[in-house]
Amino acid sequence: MSWREDAKKRAALEAVKNIEDGFVIGLGSGSTVAYAISEIGRRIKEENLRILGVPTSYKTFLLAVECGIPLTTLNEHPELDLDIDGADQVDKELNLIKGMGGALTREKIVASASKALIIIVDETKLTTSLGKDQPLPVEVLPFALPLVMDKIKRMGGKPKLRERKDGSGPYVTDNGNFILDVDFDIIKEPRSLDADLKRIPGVIETGLFIGMAEKAYVGTKTDVKILKK
Ligand code: A5P
Repeated sequence: MSWREDAKKRAALEAVKNIEDGFVIGLGSGSTVAYAISEIGRRIKEENLRILGVPTSYKTFLLAVECGIPLTTLNEHPELDLDIDGADQVDKELNLIKGMGGALTREKIVASASKALIIIVDETKLTTSLGKDQPLPVEVLPFALPLVMDKIKRMGGKPKLRERKDGSGPYVTDNGNFILDVDFDIIKEPRSLDADLKRIPGVIETGLFIGMAEKAYVGTKTDVKILKK
């Protein structure tokens, strides 16, 4: 296992210790969260942990079922005790860029329904400035694509339509939408950028998670650091 995979796994395993019996939890998406999901499955089997999970993507849904995690919905549980999710960039104030895995909209909805959001990352995700060497994923209604691209360009961003890895066409989210990966260079005012983007008709959600995370478990080459807001 590479040091990064090892660091992701250690961060995930530490974060899962926050889950208590009876919790209803948000299950984020991505390769780091995958370690958390399998650890939750282990705790259910070996420690008789009783929890319910709300998945943020079809991929997470399938993995959670495979790991024996009982699932629920926001209809049944509109308030969650805890949400564990990954991130693509984390700054000192625990503001985040998310969405390289395409699940940003459901991830933000589930995070907003949770009493606490814990982020799990390896240390390469830490940054001094959001947007530095990292595009901002923005989920867009396909019908509105040209208009949204034009408005984002006028705001100073360089939008690029995300393609499927096999080159067969645009990447489509679980919600049937497109993703624009937008280069804004360093994002100085993330809160207002998020609000400005959300005002464009056709923008479903942005990958800026501002003031949402309470703690971040950061896997380093040797240990796990806990950052608090
Ligand atoms: C999914 O849309 C993303 O927000 C992920 O949480 C993020 O991309 C982190 O994924 P990894 O853990 O695979 O790096």
